[in-house]
Amino acid sequence: MNFYITTPIYYVNDQPHIGHAYTSVACDVTARFMRLKGNEVYFLTGTDEHGQKVEKAAENKGLNPQSFTDEVSETFKSLSNLLNLSNNDFIRTTEERHKKGVLALWNKLLEKGYIYLGNYAGWYSVRDETFYLEKDLIDGKAPTGAPVEWVEEPSYFFALSKFQDKLLEFYEKNPGFIYPESRFNEVINFVKSGLTDLSVSRNSFKWGVQIPQNPDHVIYVWLDALTNYISALGYPETKDNFAKFWPADVHIVGKDILRFHAIYWPAFLMAADIELPKKIVAHGWWTINGEKMSKSLGNVVSPKELVEQFGLDQTRYFLMREVTFGADGNFSKEQMQIRLNSELANNIGNLAQRTLAFIQKNADAQVPQVNINELYSQEELLFSLENKVAEYMSSMVSYKFSHALDVVIDISTKINVYINEKEPWALRKTDTEAMNKVLYVILENIRYISILLIPFMPEAMDKMLDQISVSLEERSFANLNKNFAIKSQAALPEPKVIFPRIQ
Ligand code: MSP
Repeated sequence: MNFYITTPIYYVNDQPHIGHAYTSVACDVTARFMRLKGNEVYFLTGTDEHGQKVEKAAENKGLNPQSFTDEVSETFKSLSNLLNLSNNDFIRTTEERHKKGVLALWNKLLEKGYIYLGNYAGWYSVRDETFYLEKDLIDGKAPTGAPVEWVEEPSYFFALSKFQDKLLEFYEKNPGFIYPESRFNEVINFVKSGLTDLSVSRNSFKWGVQIPQNPDHVIYVWLDALTNYISALGYPETKDNFAKFWPADVHIVGKDILRFHAIYWPAFLMAADIELPKKIVAHGWWTINGEKMSKSLGNVVSPKELVEQFGLDQTRYFLMREVTFGADGNFSKEQMQIRLNSELANNIGNLAQRTLAFIQKNADAQVPQVNINELYSQEELLFSLENKVAEYMSSMVSYKFSHALDVVIDISTKINVYINEKEPWALRKTDTEAMNKVLYVILENIRYISILLIPFMPEAMDKMLDQISVSLEERSFANLNKNFAIKSQAALPEPKVIFPRIQ
């Protein structure tokens, strides 16, 4: 099966922070998970480079917008490398292939009669790149707290109001379209409260895709940006990647930009007779000590700093583990240290380290000889793994990353208890056959744990699987069963600590 997953494309007005890293890591975890299940995955990320916000940021730096965006988009590309993202493509909205897609969509909307010229008079927030109605403002500001300005200019409009019923009908027929459900209800209520036509061009600045019919206008940055999901697949061409991967299986976005993805984007696509994405998943927001992360508060956490301090896979793990996907969460380094030490260093890391060190010293540095079939049928800690895998799978396909990790940690916790009960160090003197069985059960559990954790911590788990001599060809979900059980008498290398304790 083919699977197409996207991150939002990031505004290049600012340096990347953990909010950006969060969306990207969640997508990467899903992409890797889907590949391990045997799917052909196309994972797209990129940068959103047009609009007033970016134009102003460039101006403040004294740079022309093109050289400014060239520079900042590079920092987002390095973020992808830093986080070890497995994206297949990185799109920039200033690329020709993208602009071509935007113009094709624009012309299609125009041709179908859904775009007309009028005048916009209302509020606009440059920070949010959003139009607001008077009734939405709170104390003269956008509901997000962003400042707004009064804008009066000629503008093209998209006939969004014509899609109110069609959208509601679509939501009704596709109850899994938006996750989590509470957010789906918000979207439905918003649409029910009435949709007004959307201004889709600006004419008071230049940094955007120029409208061919009227070069004084540039296309509204959100119509421009959303199109990246199809322009990257070659749209307006509908062969090759577009034929293969559209409609997207999932757009993962933050809750702040759900409306654009769950209302505007489907309406644009309906208007252009293009299929709609299958799912939109909205995650929550990270706060820092309970406060919003922002440059002015000086509390922005950089992903680079975390990776340097805690390690790459540890950072990926923590972001996915700490909060239920969909909910908001508070970030603190203290909490990060506590969790990484208790779950990675003391639990999973120590399980591998103590077992492998023991085998080096006391069991000929190889996987013990046992009757695998017999052991699998007798030992609950082996035959119950099947249920654990099923629970993990169902959590992962429903974007419950933290719960999936719970399942894996639970395997490790149980095995640690088992070791303490069975005392292989004592069996060594009294019953080596029993000791061999115990060690084998532990190794087989480590194999499951490692494979299940690959989407979250690909590098660390590769090392772990090297240490238990699992071949490169046997590291996917198809190998999670007895037929690929760890081979008796395989030589085991000297173990190295994979998750050091953080002091
Ligand atoms: N350019 C638009 C998206 C266009 S998609 C066609 C945009 N960019 S953004 O850079 O501002 O945000 C990108 C993503 O980062 C969003 O999903 C947003 O929710 C996420 N985050 C930004 N700050 C965040 C937190 N503090 N916490 C979690 N995620 C947040 O919006």
